[in-house]
Amino acid sequence: MEEKIVIHGGKPLVGTVTVSGGKNPAVAVIPATLLADDVCVIENLPDINDVHVLCEMMEYLGAKVKFENNTLWVDPRPLHTWRAPTELVRKMRASNYLMGVLLGRFGKAEVAIPGGCDIGARPMDQHIKGLNALGVEIELKQGIYRCRVDKLRGAEIYLDMPSVGATVNIMLAAARAEGTTIISNAAREPHVVDLANFLSAMGARVKGAGTDVIRVQGRPTLRGARYSILPDQIETGTWMCIAAATQGDITIQNCVPFHMESVSAKLTEMGMEVEEGDDFLRVRGTGRPRPVHIKTQPYPGFPTDLQQPFTVLLSTCTGTSTVLETIYEARYGHVDHLRRMGANIRVEDRVAIITGVPELWGVPVAATDLRAGAAMIVAGLMADGTTTISNVKYIDRGYEHIVDKLLELGADIQRVYE
Ligand code: EPU
Repeated sequence: MEEKIVIHGGKPLVGTVTVSGGKNPAVAVIPATLLADDVCVIENLPDINDVHVLCEMMEYLGAKVKFENNTLWVDPRPLHTWRAPTELVRKMRASNYLMGVLLGRFGKAEVAIPGGCDIGARPMDQHIKGLNALGVEIELKQGIYRCRVDKLRGAEIYLDMPSVGATVNIMLAAARAEGTTIISNAAREPHVVDLANFLSAMGARVKGAGTDVIRVQGRPTLRGARYSILPDQIETGTWMCIAAATQGDITIQNCVPFHMESVSAKLTEMGMEVEEGDDFLRVRGTGRPRPVHIKTQPYPGFPTDLQQPFTVLLSTCTGTSTVLETIYEARYGHVDHLRRMGANIRVEDRVAIITGVPELWGVPVAATDLRAGAAMIVAGLMADGTTTISNVKYIDRGYEHIVDKLLELGADIQRVYE
């Protein structure tokens, strides 16, 4: 028996949906609470598996944790070990943030090579380079990074690419380092800004988050803080895609339209109607999309995490579109499944060449990773007939109450065991 999602597609989705707190900011802010010397309260967290796994890891490390009603209460004072639980670490990529945090707390950290979605090589060299610059010695033995430092000291670090993970990990360690750390070519993603705001609320001085130079002035102690997570940028983009794909009319509330400019621009280019408010977006589908060319890039470019759902949307465009994936070399796992649904897509190296077809049809498919799962939901909603999606555990890693939210918008969708 396996849990699956079954969709009877072809219905325009109409109504209002509320975006949850962001997964990627959440998985950076939650470990950051362990740097504090007092209780932290984090609000607006998404109730998703990645958050549950992180809570389990923090409990294993000794923290007291309570997560209910989208609010996390953490007492980091009883933390007693710098050895992260390998089984749990291998479940998600963001567990690498424990490196920066445990170094900040203990000057030591043992963290296995992290897991996460299988979307291409996900090296750690920039994390290691940054932590080395702060004085940390790191050796990799039997799949575990063993990190040691007498005293973390601020340093200047230039990243070879604007890695979200490396920027976050360095900021975490730098918050408890002596002196100032300057990260150049830093990631500019909203998740980085969210973490910077939380570290500032704890008493660290962080400047420049959201630009490509971030300065962190560390503190020997950090206070407990109350903080609310920003709305999920990728969930917002997924709803925008669904509105266009189902030729629906969806008002997406509790979002940050400013974070979505690359996505709004592409939808407008496709001929869709996008209306922006202060904290909402309304997207109306106007028929088959016009062909466009998309290139994924670090923020503020088009997000790689939305490449997969948008490939689905473009599968019914009125011509030929291209999608160039510049961040991950293997993020086309969804394309095989999409072809079974009638899409005409050729992948050459990192480019998907999409020749639009009039419609997709429902068949059994699988989620090959988190965003591929979102892509399969978009495909199922567009398709004529019944789509059954297996491997829904990937979708539950990152989307809160997705089936309930879709039902509210009029989708014919259910979870089944078969
Ligand atoms: N990279 C290196 N060396 C490093 C680190 C990264 O070469 O030390 C490369 C990667 O191979 C990749 C690029 O740099 O080609 C960007 O990787 P980045 O470090 O920015 O990614 P990440 O921190 O592992 C986060 C998100 C991903 C999202 C990427 C890019 C979290 C927990 N994960 O991953 O989100 O795709 O940034 O925006 O924040 C998802 O939500 O589905 C997801 C995969």
